[in-house]
Amino acid sequence: MNDHLVIFDTTLRDGEQSPGASMTKDEKLRVARQLERMRVDVIEAGFAAASPGDFEAIHGIAQAIRDSTVCSLARANENDIRRAGEAIRPARSGRIHTFIATSPIHMEKKLRMTPDEVLDAAVEAVKLSLEYTDDVEFSAEDAVRSDMDFLCRVFEAVIRAGAKTINVPDTVGYSIPSVWGERMRSLIERVPGSDKVVWSTHCHNDLGMAVANSLAAVLGGARQVECTINGLGERAGNASLEEVVMAVRTRSDIFPVATRIDTTQIVPASKLISQITGYPVQPNKAVVGANAFAHESGIHQDGVIKHRETYEIMRAQDVGWTQNKLVLGKHSGRNAFKTRLADLGIVVDSEEQLNIAFARFKELADKKHEIFDEDLQALMSDEAFTPEQEHYKLVSLRVCSETGETPHARMTLAVGGGESQSEAHGDGPVDACFKAVERIADSRASLLLFSVNSITGGTDAQGEVTVRLARDGRVVNGQGADTDIIVASVKAYINALNRLVSKPEKVNPQV
Ligand code: KIV
Ligand code: ZN
Repeated sequence: MNDHLVIFDTTLRDGEQSPGASMTKDEKLRVARQLERMRVDVIEAGFAAASPGDFEAIHGIAQAIRDSTVCSLARANENDIRRAGEAIRPARSGRIHTFIATSPIHMEKKLRMTPDEVLDAAVEAVKLSLEYTDDVEFSAEDAVRSDMDFLCRVFEAVIRAGAKTINVPDTVGYSIPSVWGERMRSLIERVPGSDKVVWSTHCHNDLGMAVANSLAAVLGGARQVECTINGLGERAGNASLEEVVMAVRTRSDIFPVATRIDTTQIVPASKLISQITGYPVQPNKAVVGANAFAHESGIHQDGVIKHRETYEIMRAQDVGWTQNKLVLGKHSGRNAFKTRLADLGIVVDSEEQLNIAFARFKELADKKHEIFDEDLQALMSDEAFTPEQEHYKLVSLRVCSETGETPHARMTLAVGGGESQSEAHGDGPVDACFKAVERIADSRASLLLFSVNSITGGTDAQGEVTVRLARDGRVVNGQGADTDIIVASVKAYINALNRLVSKPEKVNPQV
């Protein structure tokens, strides 16, 4: 019998720490529902003390999710732990994940605490967390650069205090597989009480080895891997969930573990995260990249036609690559629309929201005869803001672009309660539009990224645009989708502006 490998997804917490990847409460709920559908064991839903918005999102997820444990991160202090405990209170199964740094550099320069103070804080944090749940995880931040003897002391003490999961993070992505696997093996061997807890690993990808290190830790005895969809996360990201899960499944001859993940939900989860965060998936990304199962060379194609396994070690359909599913068309009714949304895990809270979304679906179906799941996801992403959060909204747009002429845009935006008009020339039609928006918004934000992708195939496909804006050190991503890519671009720009004006500041747990 293989051991169970706990899959702990931290897309909504560490993933959300990627620049501009912050999500609204509704978006987080959609992601959490998809993670539950994928049968993730633990969903780290956020860091409750970061902001009231983060607290609300975790609380909402704890109310909605029934089949996965819902977890909140908390630094090792009273306020964070109480916030985390309150946030997960409605969960059927809730966990507090408390952490403190244990490396000399973090203790001295960041925490300004002695090792003994850190040890005491760790023990107190675990004890306090136990007032809220008996499922308490403890992490030694920067374990990779921590002294082994000190790590053993801290882990022994927190196990004695009642922690059930001990997480060993490579916070800065510094390790290599042989060393990381050995470190896990040696901790399990040396720490008294190690057989009473689940050992976990949490690896960052700074040297491109997060997945390899996580897998080495599994071979060393870890039975929980912390990971994210598409490898999203701080800096170069975290270990990617899809790669870890498919590696242990495909090489079950090497890994003595099995997960409970429904792998057919992997690609839908990847697309959802990419769409919500605006982080595209590189085409050659393992498992979820568009080319992961595409065979270009004639020899490979010939081989796969004769016998698939000549060049394929996994089946595309096992990870959820299906043909784009034609779901709805212009004659589809309200019920079919609502049912398909439910199948995709999109819950529409009110009749009013459903009416608005259905009207927009009909508009889209007039322009584009075949509506795919991806189109519905994009349509509903546009609905992510409640009207109160939507400070700017596109009312109308007219763009002139002609060879030999300078492109010109004229537009009307709804701003707060009223409407404003503006016009501008630009180097291209998109440039003219963005200038016209800025004449109204005057955000003084700088444009870091502008990218256009097509959501499905065909020339009538919707274009999906991501815009990344930065202001005063804050970075936000905006998305927009439309069959007209100029309109999609303006929607994306406005979406980013709405995030800039509406998102409250929040604390990063590790800074
Ligand atoms: O990378 C890290 O060390 C973390 C901890 C908070 C677990 O994200
Ligand atoms: Zn991390």
